Amino acid sequence: MADKAKLDLGDKVIELPIVEGSEGEKAIDISRLRAETGFITLDNGFVNTGSCMSGVTFLNGEKGILRYRGYPIEQLAESSNFLEVSWLLYYGELPSSTEMVNFKKKVSSFSKLPEGIEKLVDTFPKTAHPMGVLSCATAALSAYYEDFLGPQPTKEDKDVLFAQLLGQLKVIVSRFYRKSQGLDLIASNPELDYCSDFLMMMFGEADADVAKALDVLLILHADHEQNCSASTVRVVGSSHANIFSTISGGIDALWGQLHGGANQAVLEMLDEITTEGGDAAKALEKAKDKEDPFKLMGFGHRVYKNFDPRAKIIKVACDTVLEKLKVNDPLLNIAKGLEEQALKDEYFVKRKLYPNVDFYSGIIYKALGIPTNMFTAMFVLGRLPGWLSQWKELREDTSAKICRPRQIYTGATERNYKKLDER
Ligand code: CMC
Repeated sequence: MADKAKLDLGDKVIELPIVEGSEGEKAIDISRLRAETGFITLDNGFVNTGSCMSGVTFLNGEKGILRYRGYPIEQLAESSNFLEVSWLLYYGELPSSTEMVNFKKKVSSFSKLPEGIEKLVDTFPKTAHPMGVLSCATAALSAYYEDFLGPQPTKEDKDVLFAQLLGQLKVIVSRFYRKSQGLDLIASNPELDYCSDFLMMMFGEADADVAKALDVLLILHADHEQNCSASTVRVVGSSHANIFSTISGGIDALWGQLHGGANQAVLEMLDEITTEGGDAAKALEKAKDKEDPFKLMGFGHRVYKNFDPRAKIIKVACDTVLEKLKVNDPLLNIAKGLEEQALKDEYFVKRKLYPNVDFYSGIIYKALGIPTNMFTAMFVLGRLPGWLSQWKELREDTSAKICRPRQIYTGATERNYKKLDER
């Protein structure tokens, strides 16, 4: 293959370098295009734009492949655990048993929040959306860890911050849940694995199978290369903002229902279909109607144009949880019916719209007793190691620049200001 692409601009032909990744993905490097020609590229929604080179996660949407640091998601979901996967994403290799033991201890050592953050979390109305609380409390951590606010975090800083945020965000989520339900707090238990501890702090009990299913769910959410929230983290981090505000930015981006907020939206949609008599066909028709803004939540993906490999694994976890908890959720039947009909429907088939990771996760969260508006906060706990890994990679890339896209201006051309009495 040629190592340069030719761009013919009529009066000028220029050569642009071709870059190839380790899985054969190809890109045309246009970083010098404007300087050499005056042209920029235009790509609404970054559909076709590579924003960085990254060694964290590989996914191939056409083939339905997802790998963290080269390891297939199916193997990690089957045999690993969330903390181990977090380490793998962040440091690039699987931990040794000593590293794993120390890491678990270190995460557990951050099971206490600064008093001011506890008060802050407790101040919110019980009805506050947990994502707003989580984003605010995460940014507010910056007030208590001034040593980490400098523009150049050291290796030691990054090691601490990784364990600290994994430990503390879990506590913020469970604390807000207990407080918003008017329940007493339950302290973290360092003897337990990450998910059992979280379930204990939330509900005072943690069944091993259920904790395992939750662990799988978090593994599946742990990273997804340059998605909306990871890109947000990279954009914020590229200005050398501190890690607390950087992660808070990721949380805000995840909140939207086209991204992580879809898990809440799926459940609300399934609820609505049930209330209206359980007619899945009606929902499909609505989703296909271009005059109607309604979309089938939990369906479609920017990069998966084949089955989302995470959705396959989640379906199994969903069955395990429902069976273990002896929950017979009618929403599951509605979801299965909807999926079955959509997969046969020409509209969805033609556009390659398949159920995504969020289609079934809400049913699991609901079975666990997690309130619907907390689903996306669960996604945050899962995605946190991915954001941190993307941030670390960015900050260690000596060629990284502040993210600053260009635009094609379409507004008014120059005009003279008129005073109020002249308008
Ligand atoms: N229901 C109905 N039509 C849809 C849907 C849907 N869920 N998703 C896409 N389409 C249609 C869309 O209208 C368009 O049709 P046309 O070609 O006739 O204009 C076509 O399919 C292509 O879709 P798009 O909107 O151009 O695709 P996108 O890559 O910009 O958007 C998406 C991807 C995930 C935002 C979108 O599929 C969607 O809104 N899905 C529902 C929300 C959702 O489940 N989000 C969670 C994604 S997975 C979790 C995560 O990683 O964030």
